[in-house]
Amino acid sequence: MRLLVVGSGGREHALVWALSRSPLVQAVYCAPGNPGMREARRVPVSSSDVPGLVAAARDLRPDLVVVGPEDPLAKGLVDALQAEGFRVFGPTRAAARIEWSKVYAKDLLSRAGVPQPEHRSFDSPEEAVRWVRSLGGRCVVKADGLAAGKGALVCNHPQEAEEAVRALMVEGRFGEAGRRVVVEEYLEGEEASALAFVDGECVVPMVLAQDHKRLRDGDRGPNTGGMGAVAPLSHLPASLADRVRREILEPAAEALCRDGARFRGVLYAGLMLTREGPKVLEFNARFGDPEAQVLLPLLDCDLAEVLWATCEGKLGDVRLRWKPKAAVCVVAAAEGYPDSPVKGRTIHGLDAELPEDTLVFCAGVDQQDGRLVTAGGRVLNAVGLGPDVRSAREAAYRVFGQVRFEGMHYRTDIGLRAVHSAGVER
Ligand code: AMP
Ligand code: GLY
Repeated sequence: MRLLVVGSGGREHALVWALSRSPLVQAVYCAPGNPGMREARRVPVSSSDVPGLVAAARDLRPDLVVVGPEDPLAKGLVDALQAEGFRVFGPTRAAARIEWSKVYAKDLLSRAGVPQPEHRSFDSPEEAVRWVRSLGGRCVVKADGLAAGKGALVCNHPQEAEEAVRALMVEGRFGEAGRRVVVEEYLEGEEASALAFVDGECVVPMVLAQDHKRLRDGDRGPNTGGMGAVAPLSHLPASLADRVRREILEPAAEALCRDGARFRGVLYAGLMLTREGPKVLEFNARFGDPEAQVLLPLLDCDLAEVLWATCEGKLGDVRLRWKPKAAVCVVAAAEGYPDSPVKGRTIHGLDAELPEDTLVFCAGVDQQDGRLVTAGGRVLNAVGLGPDVRSAREAAYRVFGQVRFEGMHYRTDIGLRAVHSAGVER
């Protein structure tokens, strides 16, 4: 098969890497990709240029198109490609609404009886302010639409929540995406990401993963696109994955079908593991970034076969196998990230052979005069594999003995919670 992957980040590099290892795959194209993706032939079209991508597909005639990021899903890329007869892994615009409208997602999950925080949706800032005042404490104010993972504002006092409502609804911090908001109760607990391959009502879960969204060690600093990930979560009870499938993923997939929006692709539930059980903070309609960078290296079957089966409605025949290992991904960010990342710094050490049990996926990377240079906030993903999280962590951090760029910074505690909690009764 010849495949076209849409996107340019670390998640897409992990997809390209996994797909290019399949004996079924002759060529992997990536639009636009980045120069660090040596396994892919790059196609110079932006991942949010729907007509450009349709034209590229007409040229390349791929057997399968795999869509990485949320933006093209929300813009209807899948619908446009399917209308031209292409086989596409990823949901239609209607099914991806579970990600691009939090107001819709909340309503869908309520109808499906899926556990989630107490919440209300607002079109009017005055009404939103009245409600946050009545809550009297911590709450979370969320933009309805897509905001690059930055649209959830955790507020510690009503005053802060009022400011958040104004910033989103009146001042338009995230443009149209924030004109409607959801306000929800603040939940305590550990977070987990539950991803599953889904074709309509058939749900095949992956192992659970955990993102580390805050910039600094100890979950301090602002929320980012994700500073690292770990999988599987063997420190949590083994029954959790099954509970999440039954109480969350399957009811959500069925509810989408009932809405006439059959979901085909990866459904991703962002969870808070509360004392009362797992509750949904958000749904995404795609692989997580950086969760994909730990899940795909652990997958012990042919990814191309799984994606193909999903598109053919044959997911019921698929049994996912996982390597008996753990994986840790550490994101190396550019100086100035997340506010104003410094671009153009030379990346050293990628040409030499990497340490054993490690991989590097490239994200915000460009090329200048034949050198790889920084070109975005999250630059590289160092991935380590090992028999347990402790050794996977050690492997991941070994990468930075070899690969570096000026101003590079990363969290030093990725996966540490899983290491410390291992063996603790829950
Ligand atoms: P979201 O974009 O909805 O996943 O939110 C981004 C991050 O904000 C989450 O990963 C959590 O760390 C935090 N968050 C979102 N909603 C809540 C909530 N209801 N309670 C506590 N933290 C939350
Ligand atoms: N890891 C968070 C996301 O992909 O949205």
